Amino acid sequence: MSPQDTLTAPVESRISDREFDAVRRLVYENFGISLSSQKKTLVVGRLQKVLRLRGFSTFGDYLHWVQEDPTGEALSELADRISTNHTYFNREHEHFDHFAGTVLPEAIKRRTAAGDPELRVWCAGCSTGEEPYTLMMLMVEALAGAGARLKPVLLATDISMKALQKAQAAVYPQEAVSKLPPALKNRYLIKQPGGLFRVGDPIRTQVHFRRHNLMNRVFRFRSPFDAIFCRNVMIYFDNPTRAKLVEKFADNTVPGGYLFIGHSETINRDGGQYRYVLPACYRKPL
Ligand SMILES: C[S@@+](CC[C@H](N)C(=O)[O-])C[C@H]1O[C@@H](n2cnc3c(N)ncnc32)[C@H](O)[C@@H]1O
Repeated sequence: MSPQDTLTAPVESRISDREFDAVRRLVYENFGISLSSQKKTLVVGRLQKVLRLRGFSTFGDYLHWVQEDPTGEALSELADRISTNHTYFNREHEHFDHFAGTVLPEAIKRRTAAGDPELRVWCAGCSTGEEPYTLMMLMVEALAGAGARLKPVLLATDISMKALQKAQAAVYPQEAVSKLPPALKNRYLIKQPGGLFRVGDPIRTQVHFRRHNLMNRVFRFRSPFDAIFCRNVMIYFDNPTRAKLVEKFADNTVPGGYLFIGHSETINRDGGQYRYVLPACYRKPL
């Protein structure tokens, strides 16, 4: 196909079946994301801008470049384009209610009794930061309420650098914060010109954002977590990928700790190290 044809052809035909299969394989092997053939139009639409910016006239040339790039930058850009980053503060609020009402009080009691210095939470697939900032607000509130001296540690990871940069900027439009309870909004967000909201420093500076791929074979963390949130991420993974990931989460959860997944996601209710507690919420027995 000539460069001119590439620009004028219908979206789906701008990529051959072989090229689309190669994109799918690359995305699956590197990020665990399964792209069905129905996603072809979406994928072409999302990647077309990269082809244009990088000066490639065919998907074949683009793929060759991604596969040969020794820096990992091309793959990172592919992750930015392919990942779906939709999120907002206090999304699926039942989980935050359970986190504040049960998970945090239990963890604070357990950590304090053991003489541990930290309360530890991991937000995996944190996207642009709305979820980890909501979690940190609740951790700060719970620690103050209990008069506990524990340090709140919140690791927030994602594969998309672009999402992480937005997370670190911590500035959000009204729609993103509209589901946050007014008390938290008033206490921890600062109004900006243009109807925007900035997360105040006491919350923002306590969330540690890192690039991390959930497909890494081994997870190396200093010590296990009281709760892991991985919501609306595994929806893009197939069953074997999901099952392996859930076991790695369990290996990094303290006994009595929790895993939260998205409400539309499922893991085996009885299998593995976790036990079912609530819809999309599991606990590792004590
Ligand atoms: C729809 S967002 C979910 C955001 C938030 N957890 C929520 O529930 O609102 C899914 C996120 O998962 C991330 N993701 C997808 N595959 C990943 C992988 N292999 N490793 C790390 N993050 C990944 C995407 O980059 C995206 O930001």
